Amino acid sequence: MSQKNLIVAFGGVSPEHEVSVLTAIQAISALENSSYQIIPLYVTKNGRWLTGESLLDLSNYKDLPKLESQAQDCAFVKDETGKTYLKEQNVSGLFSKPKSYPVYAVLCAFHGSEGENGAFQGVCEMMNIPYTGSGVLGSSLGMDKVKAKLVAAANGIPVTKAVNFYESDWVNEQDDIITVAEDFGYPLIVKPVSLGSSIGVAIANNREELNEAVETAFRYDAHLLIEEAVNPLMEINCSVIGTPDNCKASVCERPLGKAETLSFEDKYQSGEGAEKGMASADREIPADIPEALTRKIQELSVKTFSALGASGLARLDFLVNANTEDVYFNEINTIPGSFSFYLWDRSDLNFTQLMEELIRIALKKHQEKNGRVRSYDTNLLSEKAMKGIKGLKGTK
Ligand SMILES: Nc1ncnc2c1ncn2[C@@H]1O[C@H](COP(=O)(O)OP(=O)(O)O)[C@@H](O)[C@H]1O
Ligand SMILES: [Mg+2]
Repeated sequence: MSQKNLIVAFGGVSPEHEVSVLTAIQAISALENSSYQIIPLYVTKNGRWLTGESLLDLSNYKDLPKLESQAQDCAFVKDETGKTYLKEQNVSGLFSKPKSYPVYAVLCAFHGSEGENGAFQGVCEMMNIPYTGSGVLGSSLGMDKVKAKLVAAANGIPVTKAVNFYESDWVNEQDDIITVAEDFGYPLIVKPVSLGSSIGVAIANNREELNEAVETAFRYDAHLLIEEAVNPLMEINCSVIGTPDNCKASVCERPLGKAETLSFEDKYQSGEGAEKGMASADREIPADIPEALTRKIQELSVKTFSALGASGLARLDFLVNANTEDVYFNEINTIPGSFSFYLWDRSDLNFTQLMEELIRIALKKHQEKNGRVRSYDTNLLSEKAMKGIKGLKGTK
C-alpha cells in the first residue's frame, strides 16, 4: 500500500459528541507531520457517516448544517478480494466519481455511546480492519459500570459497595433496595449504569433525596446503581497503554472539581478552555499524593486494565478515601478525553508518539488475529455433505 490512510473516526450519537470532535482534531494535529494520510470519518448527531476535507478544520463545526452539506456520505465497503475501503456514497454529477480510500487503520476518537461501547469496534471487526483502543468486550465492559465492577471485584480489585436495579425492580422491590442501600449509610451516590460525564449522578443525604435522585436518574437510563459514598473523597486517575498481557501506567492526575460531585459543566465547560478538551479541566499533574499511594494506584490500574481485557489506551478512575487512603476502582474510560495525552507527555511520550504507539498496537493486534486459523475449507453445504441430512428438500 503506497499511502497509509488513517481513518480518524469521531462525533457520534452521544452527549459527548462535541468533546469527541475536540479529541479527534487534537489527535489529527498531533499527526500532522506523520507518514499517514488522514481521512476523517465524522458521525453526525443523527448518525450519518461523513467524510471530506472540511471536517479537518475545527472552526467549521460552529455551523453544523453547513458543514454537513459540504461533506460527503461514506461507508466501509469491501472489494472482491476482501480488502476494505472507506468509500464516498451518493456522489452525484455526471463526471464525479466517488473517492475510495483503502483503509490502513482506524483511529477511534469517539466518546460515549456506540462509538465507545463496542458497537463501532464490532463494525471494524466485521470489516477486518485494524482499529485503535479496546476490542468489543473490553469496550462494552467499560460502558457498563455494574459489569465492570463485577469483573474487577472477581479479580481482587477493591470496589465500593453497591446495589443495582432496573425500573421494574424499583416498582416491585423498592423497599428492599432502599434497605440494602441504607445499610451502606448516607450519603449515597445514585448513578446511571451506562452513561458518562456525570450525567444523572447525584448525592443523596436522606431517603427523600434518594428517591428524588433515583427518579431523576431513570430519565437517563433504565439500569441504576446506588453506591456507598467515599467520604471525604479524593479522585485520582491514571492512564494505561498496551495490551492485557503487556501494559504500563502513566503518572497519576488529580481532577479538581468544584462541586461535591463532578458535573458535566465542571469537566468540559469551565470557561476559556473549551477548545482544549479534557486537557484544560482543572487538574493536578502529577497528583501531589504520597509516593506509595501513587504506586498502589498505578499497580491497580495495570491490573484492572488487564482484568477488563482493555487494549490500546484507557484512563482508569479511582475513588480514594482522603483519610484512610483506601482506594476503590470506579470506572474505566476506554477512549479518554484528549486520549489522556497530558498524562503521557509527563511520562516521556509526547502526543505524536502516543498516537503512533496506539496505531502500532492496533496493527499488531490485527496481525495476530489474522495470523490464526479463522476459516475452514470444508463446505458443509456442498452436495456431498448434504446427502446425509434428513428433512431438507432436494437432498434425497
Ligand atoms: N461512590 C462514590 N463516592 C463519592 N463520590 C462518587 C462516587 N461515585 C461517583 N462519585 C462522584 O461522581 C462523579 C461521577 O461518577 P462516575 O462514576 O465517575 O460517573 P461518570 O461515568 O458519569 O463519570 C465522580 O467523578 C465522583 O466525583
Ligand atoms: Mg467518571
